[in-house]
Amino acid sequence: MPVDGHNSRKIRAKISGVSGYAPPRVMSNTDLEKIVDTSDEWIRTRTGIRERHVVENGVAASDLATEAARRVLAQTGTPADEIELIVVASVTPDMMFPATACLVQERLGAKHAWGFDLSAACSGFVYALTVAAQFVGAGSHRKALAIGSDVMTSILDYKDRATCVLFGDGAGAVMVEPAGSGEDGILDFTHDVDGSGGPFLYMPGGGSLHPPSHETVEKRMHYVHQDGAQVFRYAVRRMADLAEGLLARNGFTKKDLALVVPHQANLRIIRAMQERLGVDDSKVMVNIDRYGNTTAGTIPLGLCDAVAQGRLHKGDLVMLVSVGAGYTSGAMLLRWAY
Ligand code: UT7
Repeated sequence: MPVDGHNSRKIRAKISGVSGYAPPRVMSNTDLEKIVDTSDEWIRTRTGIRERHVVENGVAASDLATEAARRVLAQTGTPADEIELIVVASVTPDMMFPATACLVQERLGAKHAWGFDLSAACSGFVYALTVAAQFVGAGSHRKALAIGSDVMTSILDYKDRATCVLFGDGAGAVMVEPAGSGEDGILDFTHDVDGSGGPFLYMPGGGSLHPPSHETVEKRMHYVHQDGAQVFRYAVRRMADLAEGLLARNGFTKKDLALVVPHQANLRIIRAMQERLGVDDSKVMVNIDRYGNTTAGTIPLGLCDAVAQGRLHKGDLVMLVSVGAGYTSGAMLLRWAY
């Protein structure tokens, strides 16, 4: 049974700002043709990706997260010392510990904030946003940052053409605050995990089960391993089911939706999901062509582009939906608040 947020809060939380950051270097499909046996045509038609942003050596998840956070502070006019909570979703933290949230807190100068990292792969941002919204909704926190940041190129095997072409680096951050009177903000969420999906998308090396060793490196265990077809099927079904269920139990239909912002893993997954849901292209945010799959970064980067393209207006009903390694799944229904 999915865990849900139906009527679970007294105070409503809202997103009061969103910013993204992708590193400046762009790797096109043609660039990848020089590294691995692939083609621009295969990548475009099988995934919808044209290019992705990639970090320079030495740039880590905390750098992208900090830049995205700085931008959302500037956008909302929030002094860093007013932030009380920082939740960072990432599967590519700078290091096992300390948490990326601590690195971001220090660099922002958010001296009154506490925080932590959360690992939920491609559902990480929606989970982080839910956590931040729960603290704001409980009345104990007034300003929280929910951040998704991943440097996927740090765990890609450029000898595995079935995975290395899919991912890119990027981050996004949202400011979460209490909604004002008469404002709706975040209405509901539904999340679940299905641990039986673990073997289909994972990085086996580097943890306590297989600590780093010559052997783990030789066996290429520090890279993403994926059974793409399994993940594909699960993602289409689960994203459509969660979104449909969330709409129904809040008394809405697909006609009420202004925009669906889905996790960007594959354009074909997005199109198959939206077909099941019965919404047309005009109501679905797609930017996978420019970023690839940035894991925890996709949904806030999607929200940013939607704002920039004038596709989000105050009061719009918005659905965020994702599936990721685990399997983790999540959907959130909200009214856009600015
Ligand atoms: O956020 C969650 C994370 N991941 C996902 O959501 C990914 C979900 N899965 C997918 O997006 C797709 O399954 C993939 C894009 C990974 C693969 O697409 P597909 O249409 O399922 O292709 P396939 O795995 O069935 O492979 C078809 C063919 C194979 O060749 P043969 O065996 O038919 O000769 C592959 O070897 O395409 C080949 N292939 C490639 N060819 C050129 C696989 N990768 C590539 C490539 N370039 N990069």
